[in-house]
Amino acid sequence: MTTLSERPDRERMHLVAHKERAIIAAVEKDQDSAEMRELASTAGVEVVGEMVQRRSQPSSVSYLGQGKAVELAALVKETQADVALIDDDLSPTQQRNLEAAAEVRVLDRTQLILDIFAQRAHTREGKLQVELAQLTYLLPRISAQYTKFERQQGGIGGRGPGETKLESDRSKIRKRISDLERELEEVKRHRGMAREGRRKTPFPHAALVGYTSAGKSTLLNALSGAEVHTDPQLFATLDPTTRRIQLPEGWGILLTDTVGFIQRLPHHLVAAFRATLEEVLEADLLIHVVDAAHPDREQQMEAVENVLEELGAAASPIVTVYNKSDLVSDQYELRQLVAEVPDSVYISALKGEGMEYLLREVESVIERLLVPMRVRLPYAESYLLSQCHESGKVTREEYANDSILVEGRFVRDMAQRLRPYQAE
Ligand code: GTP
Repeated sequence: MTTLSERPDRERMHLVAHKERAIIAAVEKDQDSAEMRELASTAGVEVVGEMVQRRSQPSSVSYLGQGKAVELAALVKETQADVALIDDDLSPTQQRNLEAAAEVRVLDRTQLILDIFAQRAHTREGKLQVELAQLTYLLPRISAQYTKFERQQGGIGGRGPGETKLESDRSKIRKRISDLERELEEVKRHRGMAREGRRKTPFPHAALVGYTSAGKSTLLNALSGAEVHTDPQLFATLDPTTRRIQLPEGWGILLTDTVGFIQRLPHHLVAAFRATLEEVLEADLLIHVVDAAHPDREQQMEAVENVLEELGAAASPIVTVYNKSDLVSDQYELRQLVAEVPDSVYISALKGEGMEYLLREVESVIERLLVPMRVRLPYAESYLLSQCHESGKVTREEYANDSILVEGRFVRDMAQRLRPYQAE
């Protein structure tokens, strides 16, 4: 996969010298195109025009109606746009016909998101997932018209598998897809091993979830001092990173950063990034980071909840973290909110404020998940005792001749580990 930063110098210079110009077009729907503008700017293109068609339903032939497509062609000429971004998902037919009618390269929402993912993926698994998703999406869309525009420049939407696909026929792409699938299997096997290794530690596992740019990476940094890359733009995190964090009671937890969720994350993309998002399913609890100062706060929270539901993680215990409290003007409302929403806190990850409240909240949710156990640990296994203290609450500890009687409440994995020594 080739991303902008890996491009040959000549080509990179061309792209830098000429920032791509885009028109955003959509058939009028409920939502406005604010998110599309944000996505476009994240992808590094300049929006030079917008157009909306009012009609009850998009055309099944070319998405925009014929007249509107001609208008789009005119706008493209006038603004010298390189690409039209459609705030919707297009069928291969719609895309092909719209490109022909408007005489411009057309990218739909999924392709734009995939282009951003392609620029941001930084581990091997992330890169493979993006390329696979791009090629799978591309396969039914290849046509003479499409490749004509692709060949003109490899810019937005042409990143990732871009250059190779230009000369590729479908069979070459199919071959690449199956190679990628094989490679991904291998990577997944490794990840499975890493996960097994993690499971061997008795620590409860929390996953950070949240709308993109809510501040997950900043929070992970603030809590662990880990140097996770943070980015003011969207999608800084495409691959999960795990750190160990100490709670006030002395327990350790593992905290994993996950990919940013975005509004209307297309269904097939959730599937494509399932492996990454599986971390969310594995977690004992979720920490939902919310940008409390964002005007679309509620919609963003809902978007995250929807993705969680789609993943089957909606029932997991959740601590809601209202972040960026330093940017919130109405502090009273923020306090009200935290009082009303169960298991919630407000913090400023950037300023490191409210961290102790957050950790206490996490601790109290973990406490509810503890499993009561009464065990007799043979002295040979007495190393487990310190783990008992680290990953639960020991209420009784008695030393007998051949064993130590331990009673208490422990995190699920620790309870599992203690099971062989269970006392009647
Ligand atoms: P993705 O990886 O895209 O999902 O983003 P993220 O949720 O990991 O967000 P990230 O930590 O990269 O933060 C996004 C931007 O918000 C950065 O510019 C941070 O500096 C900023 N930010 C994070 N927390 C705070 C905060 O408490 N206050 C303020 N003012 N800015 C913050």
